[in-house]
Amino acid sequence: MSHVFHRNLKATYPTAVRGEGPYLFDSTGKRYIDGSGGAAVSCLGHSHPAVIAAIQAQVAKLPYVSNSFFTTQPMEELADALIADAPKGLSRVYYVNDGSEATEAALKMARQYFLEIGQPSRYRIVTRRQSYHGNTLGALAAGGNFARRKPYDPMLADTVRHIAPCYAYRDKRDDESEDAYGLRVANELEHMIVEMGPDTVAAFIAEPVVGATAGALPAVPGYFKRIREICDKYGVLLILDEVMCGMGRTGTLYACEQDGIVPDMLTMAKGLGAGYQPIGAVLVGEKVCRAFERGSGSFQHGHTYMGHTTACAAALAVQKVIREEKLLGNVKRLGALLEEALIERFGNHRHAGDIRGRGLFRCVEFVKDRATKEPFDPKHKLNARINDEMLSRGLVLYPMGGTLDGVRGDHVILAPPYNVKDELIGEIVDIFGASVDAAISRLPA
Ligand SMILES: Cc1ncc(COP(=O)(O)O)c(C=O)c1O
Repeated sequence: MSHVFHRNLKATYPTAVRGEGPYLFDSTGKRYIDGSGGAAVSCLGHSHPAVIAAIQAQVAKLPYVSNSFFTTQPMEELADALIADAPKGLSRVYYVNDGSEATEAALKMARQYFLEIGQPSRYRIVTRRQSYHGNTLGALAAGGNFARRKPYDPMLADTVRHIAPCYAYRDKRDDESEDAYGLRVANELEHMIVEMGPDTVAAFIAEPVVGATAGALPAVPGYFKRIREICDKYGVLLILDEVMCGMGRTGTLYACEQDGIVPDMLTMAKGLGAGYQPIGAVLVGEKVCRAFERGSGSFQHGHTYMGHTTACAAALAVQKVIREEKLLGNVKRLGALLEEALIERFGNHRHAGDIRGRGLFRCVEFVKDRATKEPFDPKHKLNARINDEMLSRGLVLYPMGGTLDGVRGDHVILAPPYNVKDELIGEIVDIFGASVDAAISRLPA
């Protein structure tokens, strides 16, 4: 019997023993294509020599030192690299260890910002339904993944309110243009701020491209511009969560570049360390930094391992590889190939409702009926069945249920590494297609 408290105590997991580029191998020698790097993490594949060398060199020199007492070269150089290429206005990097910690830090920083500038009545948060910002209690409260929230509802802070996601496939009316739809749902933020009392609201948080909860879902053009205007009008901070969609995943280093806006804070994790080390960060805008500099100077927060020396060295190496190997160009080119292949395979598929995403962050949402967009009965767990079929064929993607509301809907996310060979894209889509067809054909009538 395993002594690990696994994610599912009723499941048996294969033992992964080795990774090589986009492939994983288990203890029986079976090979899997890693087409999603877990939850869009392993953006360089599993064995990049430059990242491995950087980690080995750092561990040999200084594995860890507390940033309560010292700064380090990897921490400084990584911050320089991130800020050099960040949207203008983001000026400092607050290090953490993962995405949930990044959300916690951003929420608390928003609250302390208003204390620093003499607006202590602001502490409430607006978020969107069908969003996800992490699993720790503060981050869970600030998200809209209702399945993950449900067991903990009584423990979640009552300071958060939800507005609609920007989910054109489901919610845009037939007689509505994309622009009009985007404005309508963005304006829900203004209505909510007014209803809550503008002088009580600290921040609005959103993913530029929603991750696993709604399935690689970008907003329509113009939506985030209107969101930015509303935040500015009411003095509310805008936090963009790029934990999953950032660090090049959508074809630009920062996903929000494509929406033409700059947030007050931006969170990142997954692709930052590419799975070689756990690391996350909050990029902080000038306005917020200035308030801390002029005020107390210190953020009342912290974790033992923040700014971990080896994790920063690994993330710095990842950043260098992305630049030196010109991988953002690859993401755009391979992303277009992937989109094309998905449209060819699923464009006329009777159960593929929507094919969406940006760059190498793509998703297919499955429906029982394309005309009515009716989802499959959640009791059949189609997404889990597709997963089983894919694993048996040696493919790992990221399937999820609850696409519409936390209960109904099935989708599968594809998020392959940025440096795969062109041929692998076709192979992934072929195996994915066969797995979907097999899973649907075996559904109970
Ligand atoms: C958008 C987003 N925010 C936050 C998180 C939480 O990150 P972590 O699991 O590293 O705590 C995730 C994780 O999937 C995410 O996708």
